[in-house]
Amino acid sequence: MSNDARGGQSSQARGRRMATKGRPRPAAVVDAAAPSQDDIGVEARVVAGILLNAALEKRNGLDEALSQPAARALEPVDRAFARAVAMAALRRLGEIDQILDRRLKKSPPEAVRTLMRVALAQTLVLETPAFAAVSTAVKLAERDPKTRPYKNLVNAVLRGIGREGPGLTTAESNLPDWIAARWKATYGETALTGLALAAREEPATDLSLKPGVDPAAIADAVEGEVLPGGTVRTGRRGDVASWPTFEDGDWWVQDAAAAVPGRLLHVKPGETVLDMCAAPGGKTLQLAAAGGQVVALDRSAPRLKRLTQNLERTGLTAEVVAIPAEDWEDARTFDAVLLDAPCTATGTFRRNPEVLRATKPAEVAKLADVQHRLLDAAAERVKPGGRLVYCTCSLEREEGETQIIAFLRRNPAFRTVAADPAALGAPAEALTPEGWLRILPSMWAEHGGLDGFFAAKLERVS
Ligand SMILES: C[S@@+](CC[C@H](N)C(=O)[O-])C[C@H]1O[C@@H](n2cnc3c(N)ncnc32)[C@H](O)[C@@H]1O
Repeated sequence: MSNDARGGQSSQARGRRMATKGRPRPAAVVDAAAPSQDDIGVEARVVAGILLNAALEKRNGLDEALSQPAARALEPVDRAFARAVAMAALRRLGEIDQILDRRLKKSPPEAVRTLMRVALAQTLVLETPAFAAVSTAVKLAERDPKTRPYKNLVNAVLRGIGREGPGLTTAESNLPDWIAARWKATYGETALTGLALAAREEPATDLSLKPGVDPAAIADAVEGEVLPGGTVRTGRRGDVASWPTFEDGDWWVQDAAAAVPGRLLHVKPGETVLDMCAAPGGKTLQLAAAGGQVVALDRSAPRLKRLTQNLERTGLTAEVVAIPAEDWEDARTFDAVLLDAPCTATGTFRRNPEVLRATKPAEVAKLADVQHRLLDAAAERVKPGGRLVYCTCSLEREEGETQIIAFLRRNPAFRTVAADPAALGAPAEALTPEGWLRILPSMWAEHGGLDGFFAAKLERVS
């Protein structure tokens, strides 16, 4: 669930803020080209409900549902709108349900709640005119025998909210209770509020550049700003392949935080580098661009396709092998090893709001076992004097700090090399007392935030 090295969605519609107790934030930007009312089909709202429920049901559910016939039958503009509605509903689900529950004497059937969630995501976040969202919701309620008896309720509740306003809501209500409790215990109450506010916003698109490419020139071309560390951030969305300078192959899409672990490895030209969980490949591109002779492993051949396409476009090279890293029968050891391990990806909630719903407590422990195994396999690949960077895009300590504490206990040959956030383009407050990086999405709020990441650099001293 890491950055898609080429992806991105269309978007321009500006979101309106719900009343909130949190500090003011810029209006959310949602990811669909703002379609005129004439463009927006009723079917798009049906699909928005399907996408929302698919995302709530399982990890990757939204992406899978987008490739199903109902979504594929829509015109691209309607499909983008349906996705934008589902994403807006996911980001603000707690607030939307708070608003609805205040007006509902008892909980209606799920299909009715879905209709109302879809309508409120439009009116409260996407600025769809209330008359359009409400009348479509009522029409949809009428179409299905299961929801027909609730047509008047849907009408009354949505019109009431339109007339009287949504009332106060809290950003924290958008976080599942168990996650909010965890983050409060780990990071404290103030950080929790910052995380909840960050979770309401749709992030900008970040670009990593090849060394030697002028960030100011790329920023000019894509109407962006240059962040500390050289990442270019743009409010553009949509198909990056159509953006100016894309064909030059000088940049790829990568969140500013996701670019930090690659920099932390400090690859020098000619060094041998192993990227153990490489797809879709943003970090492989960085390591190859730094001049490393990179071997990129990943267990998923379909995910590696994106990596291969990006290597071709950028003119960079790496040896790509589709295999579980621990099964790779190759005797080589490396100057530098990167383990960007599979994880719950809770740090990517800005780009993938569904991760907060898809992640279950048991998964944290299960993935921690996989990370433990992969870390031991990674250690065997590091030459004496070589470096190992371990990272995950998770906010859970079990997938970050706890892994490294346990690893250093069982591997006395390794020691931490303290990170220098300023040199890495990371927020200064991300540095932990141990010299690791714990980047929170609420950091760099003045730039619009960044994904959550944990990263630690280790060196084999014997
Ligand atoms: C966090 S993503 C990696 C993102 C990638 N480093 C990037 O920057 O684009 C984790 C990757 O680990 C891969 N993976 C999971 N288990 C693996 C294993 N045992 N060996 C190799 N790859 C694995 C997944 O297919 C997934 O692509």
